[in-house]
Amino acid sequence: MAIIRRQYDAVVVGAGGAGLRAALQLSEAGLKVAVLSKVFPTRSHTVAAQGGIGAALGNMGEDNWLWHMYDTVKGSDYLGDQDAIEFMCRAAPQAIIELEHFGLPFDRNDDGTIYQRPFGGHSQNFGEKSVQRSCCAADRSGHAMLHTLYQRNVRANTQFFVEWMALDLLRDAEGHVLGVIALEMETGEVSILHSRATLLATGGAGRIFASTTNAFINTGDGLGMTARAGLPLEDMEFWQFHPTGVAGAGVLITEGVRGEGGYLLNKDGERFMERYAPNMKDLASRDVVARAMATEIKEGRGAGKDGDYVLLKLDHLGLETIEKRLPGIREIARKFANVDPVKDPIPVVPTVHYQMGGVPTNYHGEVVVPGTDGPNTIVPGLYAAGEVACASVHGANRLGTNSLTDLVVFGKAAGERVIDFLKRNPTIRDLPANAGDATLARLAALNARKGGEDPAVVARDMRRVMQLHCGVFRFPDLLTEGVSMIREVYERAQHLEIKDKSQVFNTARIEALELLNQIEVARATMISAEARKESRGAHDRADFHARDDQQWLKHSLWYHEGDRLDYKPVTLKPLTAESFEPKARVY
Ligand code: FUM
Repeated sequence: MAIIRRQYDAVVVGAGGAGLRAALQLSEAGLKVAVLSKVFPTRSHTVAAQGGIGAALGNMGEDNWLWHMYDTVKGSDYLGDQDAIEFMCRAAPQAIIELEHFGLPFDRNDDGTIYQRPFGGHSQNFGEKSVQRSCCAADRSGHAMLHTLYQRNVRANTQFFVEWMALDLLRDAEGHVLGVIALEMETGEVSILHSRATLLATGGAGRIFASTTNAFINTGDGLGMTARAGLPLEDMEFWQFHPTGVAGAGVLITEGVRGEGGYLLNKDGERFMERYAPNMKDLASRDVVARAMATEIKEGRGAGKDGDYVLLKLDHLGLETIEKRLPGIREIARKFANVDPVKDPIPVVPTVHYQMGGVPTNYHGEVVVPGTDGPNTIVPGLYAAGEVACASVHGANRLGTNSLTDLVVFGKAAGERVIDFLKRNPTIRDLPANAGDATLARLAALNARKGGEDPAVVARDMRRVMQLHCGVFRFPDLLTEGVSMIREVYERAQHLEIKDKSQVFNTARIEALELLNQIEVARATMISAEARKESRGAHDRADFHARDDQQWLKHSLWYHEGDRLDYKPVTLKPLTAESFEPKARVY
């Protein structure tokens, strides 16, 4: 098959907050940058980040980056790398000012400063009391961020490839990453985007679960590409369940509701978080709140005729506050739960929201893997930022608002690192003669196969296995069974058949290709979860209730090749601050 080749200084895969922030850095440096996205950039999943972006601006009371760092380390259940966490928390205030200057329409206080709301796990003075740290644009913060960054990119002449799906990384014999092979979704045409640097910003893979706040596009494409390129995926056992997904629909209700004073009730009208987190209550970190809700439901105190959800009450905030601070939530509650929160509580359940693990990177966005010649090797030419990456600032549990902080801080840092790399590597390396052949063979087999598996059925089975066997609470027998079940689903996924080849826009083909990425993520998740014999952050095992720092204060690395695990140490030493030593985590 004849295949078009294009050349760039840098290719960015994904046009959410991280991809756009990185691309902006690169385009403003005068580089030729291509950004690929399966959807129009302003429809990327960052659009769904509602409640705000965390930064210790101190606009609403005393705050500083060290407290933010402490909260993030504690929130991560001590699995986060403290160098990366310090880097992010120190850079956050400047990142906000930059976004403000780019034109992001933040909510304001009467004195003109940016309004900040409380969020779960964010505190003053090392856990003493809740702090207002989340800078927001009502409950549409991610939406505002995307529009701002997209417009800046248009101004900077970034070249967008909209409705394009990257299929695989291209590497040479020395391991240099030299771009991607990609599919134009409408035409099915395949091209090589040959580049001096490649940055993955493809977001998460929440769609491997049956119930998720994630968009349909969140299929772990960057993770699948990385795994197939022979590189590991880090800490994939850690998935965040957001406490407040609309029951039965999964759509996100921002934690900002609780930040503004809303709270959770069980069927008896009890404000149950007081029992689980006496100090922070409804603003404890997400893993704690999600487990408390699941426990209430499990022990028969759930609301509704089947007792399978709890209630989020916010009517006491009043119409004016709801309309001003949470207008999107009112609309979502009316549309997806058929309740008007001005009068009635919203039925909510913990719902898969965020992947803490990902492609292993350092805090410059460089992809770093255990080397043959030492503990760490940088993969030349490859970078990752945002949810696809594991820097690792979120460890075993992310704090709300730190996702947007992560996107802009590490998007920019990765962009800067790419610029340095390109200065040191001014000429483009040749592509190997067989570049893209394996991908073309995979596509040809998929197109030609008859009598194979239906991708929709295999995908449904994968989601069922993940939801049942790898949920909020994890049980040893379910995990063991889950490993063999997901391996079986993986085998079936190797024999997919595109059932309806006549489709306009290639949707059946795209879904099959996405499934091949998702199943890598699902395998990595289940296998890493079964192996980790402790409870930490979002990974809660019924047979190993406690955190075990002796054995398990380490990052998991899962490899596609051989379906195997390895481990690497957590970085406990920050850049300049004192380490926060692991201790009991109470809220
Ligand atoms: O609850 C929310 O608004 C989600 C924010 C986040 O995941 O950071």
